[in-house]
Amino acid sequence: MLKGKHIILGITGGIAAYKSVYLLRLLIKAGAEVQVIITPSGKEFITPVTLSALSGKPVVSEFFSANTGEWHSHVDLGLWADAMVIAPATASSIAKMAHGVADNMLITTYLSAKAPVFIAPAMDLDMFAHPTTQNNIELLKSYGNHIIEPTSGELASHLVGKGRMAEPESIVEKLTAFFATGKDLQGKKMLITAGPTYEKIDPVRFIGNYSSGKMGYALAEEAARRGAQVTLVSGPVAIKAKHPAIKVIDVESAKQMYDKCVNIFPDVDIAIMCAAVADYAPEKQSDVKIKREKDDIPVIKLVKNPDIAASLGKMKTEGQILVGFALETNNEETNAQDKMQRKNLDAIVLNSLNDSGAGFGTDTNKVTIFFADGNKKMYDMKSKAEVAKDIIDAII
Ligand code: PMT
Repeated sequence: MLKGKHIILGITGGIAAYKSVYLLRLLIKAGAEVQVIITPSGKEFITPVTLSALSGKPVVSEFFSANTGEWHSHVDLGLWADAMVIAPATASSIAKMAHGVADNMLITTYLSAKAPVFIAPAMDLDMFAHPTTQNNIELLKSYGNHIIEPTSGELASHLVGKGRMAEPESIVEKLTAFFATGKDLQGKKMLITAGPTYEKIDPVRFIGNYSSGKMGYALAEEAARRGAQVTLVSGPVAIKAKHPAIKVIDVESAKQMYDKCVNIFPDVDIAIMCAAVADYAPEKQSDVKIKREKDDIPVIKLVKNPDIAASLGKMKTEGQILVGFALETNNEETNAQDKMQRKNLDAIVLNSLNDSGAGFGTDTNKVTIFFADGNKKMYDMKSKAEVAKDIIDAII
């Protein structure tokens, strides 16, 4: 699976850097073309000579080559890569990646890379457990990076705990599994909705919800990775799509999302409605900020928004697949099945706010998929990237 793949191996300054030599050897043996980028402190632990001898390429570390003045283009490297693996990733490099501190060649390349990024943390147990490190790791996950969890055991400090870099064999296994998923959506066009909608009350206020867009964006990344051409109609979110095959159309209100979706739907093979669309919008929007008056409490009259999924369900033609989501708080199964029927969906993905770790804002989700033919599939709590994979597998 790794044969001919372009892989950037990023090495940062930790004692586990010695394992990266073995990792590099395994990648080369598997047929990958590997470009090593090492941070200045990484070179304190392992020499570029060893790495360039094994990779067959000069090791990149600085922005310029000291001898020739040649500029190393982080942009070109980022675009060349099919995957980037940072192993070991120290607490400091993880923090820089999470916050965009581009003060060395590796982090600059990471910020330019379009390819999937795998991060194998390695550090002392308390550094790993520290809320700062954990928050940074969560942030990196929320940007779609893959974290290869460290294992527990004796650390360089001789303390015992979680912080040992995953073994090179297991990192190669993860990469192989990632590339093993074929391009089974090649040639397919997909429409995915994500995020919340904002229904404007006045220039400073809106009716919205807690959707972060993480689930919808994870679906878009997974579909694009498997070869689909994805149009992602997104409500206001703080995340960015990474894969070049994803075209993002930003909208704010349910009406705007509806207009885009009905236009795009006739041309797609598969549509997944993951957005948390507001069911109601204020009937009138004030052009000026509504003032706080003494006795006069404003009453906002609401009107129904169009139901996008139901409208697409009516437009659906033979061969098109339409999948919805149901976010429920009670009578979950009945409500989800009812929505699937009413909206003429081929399947519906149920997530319940009664499962902690599922639904809005989290990096994880727990779903059950109901199919129009009466079948159902239940899944464990997983990262939203893994849930996206399950959903796409189920659709296929
Ligand atoms: O964005 P995250 O923070 O990662 O959270 C993910 C999520 C919880 C938003 C997502 O997993 C999810 O459940 N999305 C659907 C939320 C929702 O609005 O569910 P619903 O049961 O109210 O709607 C049912 C279906 O109809 C959904 O496919 C929805 O997109 C669609 N709908 C709803 C109302 C409307 N006016 N038009 C619609 O198309």
